[in-house]
Amino acid sequence: MLLQLTKDEEKILDGEKGEGLRKMMKLIVGLATISGAEKLIRIESAHISGISYQNIGDEGLSFLEWLVEEGVHVSVPTTINPAAIDLYQQGQDVDDEFYKKQERIVNAYIKLGAKPTLSCTPYFLDNVPSPGAHLAWAESSAVIYANTFLNAYTNKESGLSALAAAVIGKTGYYGLHIDENRKPKIAIKVVTVLSSSLDFGILGYRIGELVGDKIPVIIGSFPKTIPERKQFVAGLSASGTVGMVRFSNNLISSKDRIDVIEINDKEISDVRSRFASLDIDVVYLGCPHLSLAEVRELAMLLQKRKVKSGKSLLLYTSISAYKIANEEGLVRIIENSGARIFAGACPVFNPSKYKGIIGTDAIKTAHYLKATKSSQITISNTMLLIESVTEMK
Ligand code: F3S
Repeated sequence: MLLQLTKDEEKILDGEKGEGLRKMMKLIVGLATISGAEKLIRIESAHISGISYQNIGDEGLSFLEWLVEEGVHVSVPTTINPAAIDLYQQGQDVDDEFYKKQERIVNAYIKLGAKPTLSCTPYFLDNVPSPGAHLAWAESSAVIYANTFLNAYTNKESGLSALAAAVIGKTGYYGLHIDENRKPKIAIKVVTVLSSSLDFGILGYRIGELVGDKIPVIIGSFPKTIPERKQFVAGLSASGTVGMVRFSNNLISSKDRIDVIEINDKEISDVRSRFASLDIDVVYLGCPHLSLAEVRELAMLLQKRKVKSGKSLLLYTSISAYKIANEEGLVRIIENSGARIFAGACPVFNPSKYKGIIGTDAIKTAHYLKATKSSQITISNTMLLIESVTEMK
């Protein structure tokens, strides 16, 4: 059946409500048509990626400013991913032009009506979906988190399609919006014990490599804590294209007729060894962004420690979590240790030039930095990383 539009939707598509809205509707309709959708559905919220100037460049900036001139505005609650840098702090090794263009991008989103949350973990504080809600979210780790752990319905949108859906307030009814498409097509049996959030990140990463776009059901392992879940979805999003996973306690029987792949100790250690252990110079923590609870834990830890000479410890969190942490005096504690904490920035899509070997507890950071920067990367558990660049006061 062909895509059916309402009279109002057709009017927007015909340009009766302006060129900006027409372009946004054209994108939504184009995606819905090629995906076989029969109708558009209302969304509860949108989350937009591609905020970093490093990512979208001058073309992206001009397009956003053109939308503002056209009087375009979002029509549902909309949050945005991190920028390249923390716009509120000096000393991030970027030139004035980069800083100003990044600021213009965020300002354009504010004028379009988005909340300047600048976080890849909107599901913590800024944009918590109701159970069963239909969303249009970009940022693949947040999409997997929402579909898998929050019982929400969203496809993996691009930054542009999430923006278009935010403006129109609708998206096509296809893909992961439909229950039938959320059934598992492959089973992953985990026969190893995972003991840290990094282990769950590696598990997610390996699953992403194995399943492609098939939704897996995972048997024998379940990430219980927030850091475990966060790293699991980030690992999965770095290596795979799937938008959600299922978990089950039950073994798959032959009547289920799906392939079963086993992941054992060796699979986990093979991935770990791709990011071999080295002497670390700079540690990045906060991909996806640190939750407020994680910032509190790190501050308690750093109260008694200081960063070693010649080493760096860089923490990344959302604007919302940073504000609360600042009010609680935690930012001061962190900075007194010699570490730095950035709000609304992304450790991967920024142009900073910290020299040396990078350590991270996030396989997503390791995956992207290995591909985009010439640095050497080590993955390790959070505590070991902190110990490697700090010492007791
Ligand atoms: Fe977030 Fe940047 Fe990692 S957007 S998930 S901190 S790559």
